[in-house]
Amino acid sequence: MKVFDTIKHSTLVDIYRCYELWTLMQQLEHVPGEAIEVGVWKGGTGGLIASMLKRFPMPRKIYLCDTFQGVVKAGDKDTLYRGGEHADTSKEAVMELMSTLGVTQNVEILPGIFPEESAHQVEHNLFSFCHIDVDTYLSAKDVFEWVSPRLSVHGLVVFDDYGTWGCEGVTELVQEIAQDPNYFLFQNLNGHAVLIKLKSATTIGDGFQTSSLSR
Ligand SMILES: C[S@@+](CC[C@H](N)C(=O)[O-])C[C@H]1O[C@@H](n2cnc3c(N)ncnc32)[C@H](O)[C@@H]1O
Repeated sequence: MKVFDTIKHSTLVDIYRCYELWTLMQQLEHVPGEAIEVGVWKGGTGGLIASMLKRFPMPRKIYLCDTFQGVVKAGDKDTLYRGGEHADTSKEAVMELMSTLGVTQNVEILPGIFPEESAHQVEHNLFSFCHIDVDTYLSAKDVFEWVSPRLSVHGLVVFDDYGTWGCEGVTELVQEIAQDPNYFLFQNLNGHAVLIKLKSATTIGDGFQTSSLSR
């Protein structure tokens, strides 16, 4: 609650989903890899995750990725977003929150459209956790396809927008991914979709192959 009180004015995510992020992170100590969030806005959920990472005996990082110019890649599958929403933030504002939380050592900010403009900085990293909070179908798909081969077995992907009115594109994407036998899906009534990676080789959509990169 102390961490939540510090971040609650810098997040659009409610306490139930924040609590789930917190408790999921807590259980990832023995799954190798760092954390990544795409869709940071003012840094609330990123700061929450970083605060849990700081408690791990071995230091771990979260990469916070945002355009800082709002939502991108809105298309036909998206019912509400048109592009440019949530631009009322900055890298500096996020760093100030991280400083208040005392987690600057655990955080690296990657500005730009992910993955096209920023993912090259972490392309050889291994991840245990990915929080996708980007609001549109294509952004969420591109993030998932990028992170999937870089995710440890038993690593988690959380889609914030799965059950959010106005983010039906993300709901559709998760339903497509649910067909992938390499993942186990929880459809949580708080709005989250939580995916657990079961195996290494991943195939989604029309023939997306990642086995060569799988760990
Ligand atoms: C709903 S907000 C994130 C909310 C945040 N997680 C919180 O704690 O409230 C969505 C964010 O996703 C970002 N975004 C959307 N698509 C993106 C992409 N492909 N790459 C980087 N940032 C993206 C937007 O700039 C926006 O700040």
